[in-house]
Amino acid sequence: MFKPFRLTGAVVFCVLLGISAVHAQDADPARYAIVPYPQELVPAAGEFVITPKTKLVLPSNKAFFSNEAAQLQTLIRQGLGKALPVAGKAGNGTIVLKQNDQLAGEEDYTLEVTPQQLIISAKTPTGMFRAVQTIRQLLPANIEGVKNAKLPKLTVPAVKITDHPVYGWRGMHLDVSRHFFSVDYLKKFIDLLALYKMNKFHIHLTDDQGWRIEIKKYPLLTEQGAWREFNNQDSVCMQKAKTNPDMEIDKSHIIQKDGKTLYGGFYTQAQMKEVIAYATARHIEMIPEIDMPGHMMAAIKSYPYLSCVGGSTWGPLFTTPICPCNESTFEFAENVYSEIFALFPSQYVHLGADEVEKSTWAKSPACEAIMKANNLKTVEELQSYFVKRMEKFFNSKGKKLIGWDEILEGGISETAILMYWRSWVPDAPVHAAQHGNKVIMTPGNPLYFDTPPDRNSVSNVYHFNPVPKGLTPEQEKFIIGAQANTWTEYIPSEKRADFMMFPRMTALAEVLWTHRQDYDNYLLRLNKQYKRLDQLKVHYRMPDLDGFTDDNVLVGKTVLKLQKPSPEITIRYTTDGTAPTMSSAELPEAFIVPGPGTIKLASFSPSGSSSDIYTLNYRQQSFFPPVNLFKAPEAGLQVQYFDSSYRSVTKLPDTSDSIVYVTNAVIPAGMGKGGKAFGAKITGYIDVPETAIYSFFLTADDGANLYIQGDKVVDNDGWHAPVQKSGQVALQKGLHPFEIKFVEGGGGYTLKLEYRVNGGKIQAVPDAWFKRN
Ligand code: ACM
Repeated sequence: MFKPFRLTGAVVFCVLLGISAVHAQDADPARYAIVPYPQELVPAAGEFVITPKTKLVLPSNKAFFSNEAAQLQTLIRQGLGKALPVAGKAGNGTIVLKQNDQLAGEEDYTLEVTPQQLIISAKTPTGMFRAVQTIRQLLPANIEGVKNAKLPKLTVPAVKITDHPVYGWRGMHLDVSRHFFSVDYLKKFIDLLALYKMNKFHIHLTDDQGWRIEIKKYPLLTEQGAWREFNNQDSVCMQKAKTNPDMEIDKSHIIQKDGKTLYGGFYTQAQMKEVIAYATARHIEMIPEIDMPGHMMAAIKSYPYLSCVGGSTWGPLFTTPICPCNESTFEFAENVYSEIFALFPSQYVHLGADEVEKSTWAKSPACEAIMKANNLKTVEELQSYFVKRMEKFFNSKGKKLIGWDEILEGGISETAILMYWRSWVPDAPVHAAQHGNKVIMTPGNPLYFDTPPDRNSVSNVYHFNPVPKGLTPEQEKFIIGAQANTWTEYIPSEKRADFMMFPRMTALAEVLWTHRQDYDNYLLRLNKQYKRLDQLKVHYRMPDLDGFTDDNVLVGKTVLKLQKPSPEITIRYTTDGTAPTMSSAELPEAFIVPGPGTIKLASFSPSGSSSDIYTLNYRQQSFFPPVNLFKAPEAGLQVQYFDSSYRSVTKLPDTSDSIVYVTNAVIPAGMGKGGKAFGAKITGYIDVPETAIYSFFLTADDGANLYIQGDKVVDNDGWHAPVQKSGQVALQKGLHPFEIKFVEGGGGYTLKLEYRVNGGKIQAVPDAWFKRN
């Protein structure tokens, strides 16, 4: 995949853990709709009823769980309108908070709910807080987000739970530089992290497009650096907003200054303190990132001396970085970080250090001197010199340094923590773990939540295995967890941010907390979570509608019959090309497609969450007759490989001195080594077993088109993140000419072909269907 500013890439994603989860199947997922699912859950009959007479019993050291008890009381007050009285003695009709030193970990807890009593034990307040979130999810959804639901009683189903997390780092990242997000949104986000037992919030506070945190020693960073005139990415958002209101730039972050329209914002240190305290009370650790030495244009504009050339401009991909060869740069960086350290209590601090355009260093006399004095051979080693020196400073202040995986390139210290993101450098986390560095996994595919979600993204996240191949069990311990990153170049509003992150964050939460896989069971529990998210006003992406492709064929009368994900959802449609809204016509249960043309569909929840807008194109077609070959075809397909960069499959040459070889798998492995750009034509015949309308689903990063019988069946062209597009073709049984044209712009590729016939399951096209002359 190619992205001009943040490069993200992907290898073909294929992780099957193959572990069945009998424990999850035993319990009714609607009764115990807990996400992430606990390690051990023993269902039981009956329920504990909470009324205003129920009493809360605290441990003898009352202050120990006071924060967590208050949070439980808040939930109960939201349901009953009253908090519970506190009693001294456990007995029938009590909720008991117990401290249990015997539990192994900080976050461990047990929960025992019987019709008589509700007992929670934890070793620490963190464990108690996680337990309260489990109880929260066992309580009715309508306690959420209201002051008083006026319920006469609350019921909690009887159950025994013993729980602990598998990974210590269960993170989410949010980029507040490309677009600014309000303090209230940060708090809402923290609430959602807490609800799903995530424990790290990595906030990307600075980048080329905006500096978002007050630094008292350098006031221009926010006076100037927090504001910008609209940029190209903003223009893209504005264009998209014409058909999708979630893409509108938030007007509350636009100001007029000196006759200019400026866009942005920043957090004062007092505001950030408030956000950190809010997170700390919810046992979420906030990890700040001040990204350097690259991605510093917002700072260099105000303090031009920071770069080697006195200012910063855009290079082919990235901006001029700060100069690691001047003492004044270190003085600035240390001063900035000193204020950050004072603000954020976390021992972890993220230096960034990704995507550095180093050409100004290569030409700088100051850098030449530094390289000579320190025996540095390459600019990568110079970057390492910067990172290591900064790490010494971090460590001297009691902080641990995290950096993006580029910190491996010029040599990594013994102690830096590597945050892995470049899917096309699969060895990076392996090498780091083998070297003894802790690693946090955030591979672009599937953990970049700025990638537009499609029908596979929740499943892809759910089936993600944080441990890369090639490590011994001892080395695997260095993989401390994973995190999803949400870069916001094209996420201009809080609603859009919700849409991009939910529900896939809940899948990640289950991977990292429970790490036992039962996707179907998870989906049933997720279905209940939507009601809670509705109450919390989360503008999540609705479950996908199914039963059609992007490009459909009409062979005779065609009836469109769609299943609603749940009864209260409405599916609305238009046939005039406009985007469906809450007031568009509702799609009948059986809709007769009126003829060739376009139908647009979307589903809506009662609270206003919506799905993607689906555009269904219909065209008339007759069944293609098969071709007869003079000689019996052989197995496999032919690959024509072009070692160059093409923006579109239409730009692939017709004839060339390309490399030609045969593949027995429809998707050849090993193309584009090292994340290189390339193009490919994969050609031959597809041998279909019956006469039918075939639906094909082609997932590609970057672009790919599928042609059968010379007919363009799927158009998924252009450079983009992994995205699935689909189309239909009517085929008689037998052989049909087949071709996939593919282009990859660099940064790792994804290519996957699936099919469906007669309303069956979507499945991989068998390799045995492919033939060549
Ligand atoms: C990154 O996406 N540049 C870490």
